[in-house]
Amino acid sequence: MTDIRKVAICGAGGTMGAGIAIVAARGGFETVCFDMSAEALARQRRAAGTFFGTSVEKGRMSAGDREATLARMSDTTDLADLAECDLVIEAIFEDLDIKKDLFGKLDRICKEGTIFASNTSTLSITEIAAGSGRADRVVGMHFCLPAQVMKLIEMSRGLNTSDETFRAAWAWTEACGQSPVETQDKPGFILNALLVPFNNDVIRAIEAGLASAEEIDLAIRSALGYRMGPCTLLDLIGLDTQLRLGEAFYPITLDPRAAVPPLCRRMVAAGRLGTKSGGGLLTGRLPEKAVEAPAYSLRSAGESRSFPAGDPFLAGARDGDAAEVTIHLGSGFAPDPAKTAVLVELDTECLGLHTGEDMGREGSNAVGFARYRNGDDPPSNLIELVRQPATDPAALAAARAVFDCAGFDVVTCADRPGRIVDRLVRPKYNDALRFLDDGLAAAEEIDRTCRMGLGYPDGPIERVTRGGLARHCEISNNIFKITGQTAFAPQRAPTIQKIRAKSE
Ligand SMILES: NC(=O)c1ccc[n+]([C@@H]2O[C@H](COP(=O)([O-])OP(=O)(O)OC[C@H]3O[C@@H](n4cnc5c(N)ncnc54)[C@H](O)[C@@H]3O)[C@@H](O)[C@H]2O)c1
Repeated sequence: MTDIRKVAICGAGGTMGAGIAIVAARGGFETVCFDMSAEALARQRRAAGTFFGTSVEKGRMSAGDREATLARMSDTTDLADLAECDLVIEAIFEDLDIKKDLFGKLDRICKEGTIFASNTSTLSITEIAAGSGRADRVVGMHFCLPAQVMKLIEMSRGLNTSDETFRAAWAWTEACGQSPVETQDKPGFILNALLVPFNNDVIRAIEAGLASAEEIDLAIRSALGYRMGPCTLLDLIGLDTQLRLGEAFYPITLDPRAAVPPLCRRMVAAGRLGTKSGGGLLTGRLPEKAVEAPAYSLRSAGESRSFPAGDPFLAGARDGDAAEVTIHLGSGFAPDPAKTAVLVELDTECLGLHTGEDMGREGSNAVGFARYRNGDDPPSNLIELVRQPATDPAALAAARAVFDCAGFDVVTCADRPGRIVDRLVRPKYNDALRFLDDGLAAAEEIDRTCRMGLGYPDGPIERVTRGGLARHCEISNNIFKITGQTAFAPQRAPTIQKIRAKSE
């Protein structure tokens, strides 16, 4: 139940404001759309008509409801028209002074009980509220893009937000059919705090030559079941937006992963912003799948994480030593220059551990591989091939053909600790565990935010817990020891104990 009847959206001519206005009107609320640009308002009014028209075509609403919903929306460029609103949601430019100025003016215009909500992505709700003259009635209400489609809203309190205000704003989001999660007034709340550094890591991995954007996308989708690869998402968000987010986050958090990667700046300078400019990280080039594979034989030095007993891949091997490709399972290795390729199953170690570290000139026909697997979950369909600078292209092609023809998703990466997937997701798991320690949100809220806001099949806490926290610590620590990057320093033991205690 909500006592709120009349709602205003400031910045309703913009990307987010237009979507939020649709949510409010669709929820049955009288919706005042305010923007300083009448032209932007007119454009968004047409877009709302089209949106509701599609809803009618798809049977989500009747033609009568469409008319009634549009009739609940009014447009204005005069702030005085917001005087009688019960709730004002601002989605104007991301600038503290501009937002403070707006709330200051609104405080003089609106009735005493009006609640102010901010859709800011990076600014502090407490700081925005400081200019409002009614800090107890200001709340953070962060919608996801596109607001008219995504159900998740991150709700946060400023230091002075009253319980009554928070409850009323929360109830209103539920009355609109949205799904609120409670988080804190911290930069990026949950979603962007996880996403901005992760996306920067992806850009840095491309820049460092770990793998191509296409291979990173394929690896993440195949291993983790994400609906969209991170490079596709970055191209959609726009590298200019990612740059702005990094510039907003880094000075507040001083997290080196939040700092804008040099490649991101260069892409923006070159006008390669992503989908909107017709070109971004993705180049559209993935190696073609092989249709014919060389014969392979197996040597086992212990248990294989990639192919446990009974895996169909094992049945495809030739007996004896005549095959062109030898595959060592269980991390064993013996050089054999007579073969086209010698494949070494890797666990957490680099290929160089087996071939000998010789500044990358070693191991001409040796190719590392691992099938991605989260703890004892069944192995995924992803095979990460590991090459060294002087790996024979024929050996790499043979390795790829063996796994392509067996039906796997195959990517190739440089011989770096963590390969593609662990190198990119372990810092994210560490972030999520730290958020839990810091009390940013409950585990279920963090997971739900990722499932609903990013379309992940599961959240980071449930996945890392299911995969085993000890295993996470082992992998993360291994990468930390080699790279020295603190993002891989496994999160504190108390977190792990807290999760264990809860699950027992
Ligand atoms: N774009 C996203 O993915 C996203 C997601 C979540 C939150 N946000 C946040 O939402 C807010 C808006 O972002 P956007 O991407 O929709 O921006 P936008 O530039 O598309 O829209 C901003 C709108 O606000 C209007 N405006 C600016 N200052 C105004 C003022 N003083 N009075 C009245 N109208 C004013 C502009 O005319 C414009 O129509 C920002 O705080 C942003 O951080 C953005």
